[in-house]
Amino acid sequence: MTFVVGEDCIKCKHTDCVEVCPVDCFYEGPNFLVIHPDECIDCALCEPECPVNAIFSEDELPDDQQVFLELNAELSEVWPNITEMKAPPADSEEWAGKPDKLQYLER
Ligand code: SF4
Ligand code: F3S
Repeated sequence: MTFVVGEDCIKCKHTDCVEVCPVDCFYEGPNFLVIHPDECIDCALCEPECPVNAIFSEDELPDDQQVFLELNAELSEVWPNITEMKAPPADSEEWAGKPDKLQYLER
């Protein structure tokens, strides 16, 4: 089991989540964060920290976001680790809750 960062993080990237992770298993891309599935210990601390509710337990990931399981696994192998909160993008609020953001994922 692992927790998974889903679509709502794209272009919002608040980074509150990284501050509470006891095993520092978040990895940062240009406009999205991912969780390394082999490092996550399922503590659930990060889930309520995300202002846009982008984080799910693997078994509660919505059907239309299943692709994010593979994306978290794949991108956490190549993106750098992030352990401290940073300012979100300037237009972060505008993207909160917007649908179909996968097309904007930058690698
Ligand atoms: Fe880190 Fe716990 Fe969230 Fe997993 S569930 S990413 S270990 S804070
Ligand atoms: Fe993304 Fe939410 Fe973390 S927007 S960076 S999962 S706090």
